[in-house]
Amino acid sequence: MTLSFDSAAELVAALRPEEPVFGLRPHVLRQAAEDYVAAFPGDVLYAVKCNDDPRVLQALHGGGIRHFDTASIPEVARINDLFGHEPAETRVCHYMHPVKGPEATAAAYRQYGVRCFALDHPDELDKIRAATGDARDLTLLVRMEAPRNQATFDLGGKFGASVEDAPDLLRAVAASGNQVGLTFHVGSQCLNPGAYARAIDLADQVAERARVAVPVLDVGGGFPADYVGAATAPFPAFAQAVVAAVRRSKNLRHARLQCEPGRALVAAGCSVVVQVLARRGEALYLNDGAYGSLSELRYLELVPPIRVLRPGGRPGRARLGFKLFGPTCDSADVLPGPYWLPADVAAGDWLEVGQMGAYSNVLRTPFNGFYADRWVYLRDPPVAITPDMEAERRFDLRTA
Ligand SMILES: Cc1ncc(COP(=O)(O)O)c(C=O)c1O
Repeated sequence: MTLSFDSAAELVAALRPEEPVFGLRPHVLRQAAEDYVAAFPGDVLYAVKCNDDPRVLQALHGGGIRHFDTASIPEVARINDLFGHEPAETRVCHYMHPVKGPEATAAAYRQYGVRCFALDHPDELDKIRAATGDARDLTLLVRMEAPRNQATFDLGGKFGASVEDAPDLLRAVAASGNQVGLTFHVGSQCLNPGAYARAIDLADQVAERARVAVPVLDVGGGFPADYVGAATAPFPAFAQAVVAAVRRSKNLRHARLQCEPGRALVAAGCSVVVQVLARRGEALYLNDGAYGSLSELRYLELVPPIRVLRPGGRPGRARLGFKLFGPTCDSADVLPGPYWLPADVAAGDWLEVGQMGAYSNVLRTPFNGFYADRWVYLRDPPVAITPDMEAERRFDLRTA
């Protein structure tokens, strides 16, 4: 059973946890789902890879998410296990990984009824045709390159047919007798709505060159979550940029739209509550780190809002920038920060690290025997990003 608390402070007072705890806020997840579904004029596919915890998926489904961007059979199976009893149209899986195994493709089609697949190469089209017995009831989305370096985490260079190659692939898909579509990913934590408009302009050029109708356009994920110093436009601004670009396009203006948010839907819905095991000057040794649920903070240099939780005490007002070490014996297990916290933070305190619903539990490893898997529900609002935090981050960026 998952315990439930009014706040992270109450959780810490009750459990005094020595291991990291995931604090899930289903009400926040449900609200995010409702907001995205209301703002986007098409299907909102949740990118399951971002956080596949069943409680997260249930909350999103409760908020109206009916489509799922899946990358593997285990993800498809999880959606099926959770929502298999629901009508099929309320749990639609789209297999959006452009490189799939033949058996996985066949299982998706035959066992799970998946009808939408992404691809970025003629070999993959051959594979899909062979694995599905030359099916004609598919929607095949050609993943094309998006303009590079538009986001905090550039996803280019691995997947995506070039603008030169994509038209031939679109024609080959059309010739296979299946419904044709285009998709791209602008990169994760993309702060600029204009990046989607640029990618849609490129998709329009590809459709123009291909000279086949493209009735489906999937604008991928990449929508930003709130971190300290990463002020983002609200999702409706991104949705409007998409709609405006599609309307002014020549070839995509009647396309059915899809998007695949991961991070932006779930980041605010989960905190990680960690304990300070030791303090050495301006370094804190935590029970979670770069090999655990905080790994994204290391390689993306995102700064989440953090608050100190000290049952029976109140931290001082003066603040200092800290470096955070994780619990393994590996010296790469460090988050250099600086992370600004009350100057009197000490061993035994707990930290609530906010905005940790995305790419946290799914990236943790059991390295050195540490593998946190304790979950609770929290009923309070997420950790707020304060003007002080923003000012500290601006200072750090200026002096870096
Ligand atoms: C195909 C695809 N769609 C959607 C996403 C979700 O991206 P984000 O979490 O940035 O919204 C990803 C992330 O890697 C992806 O590969």
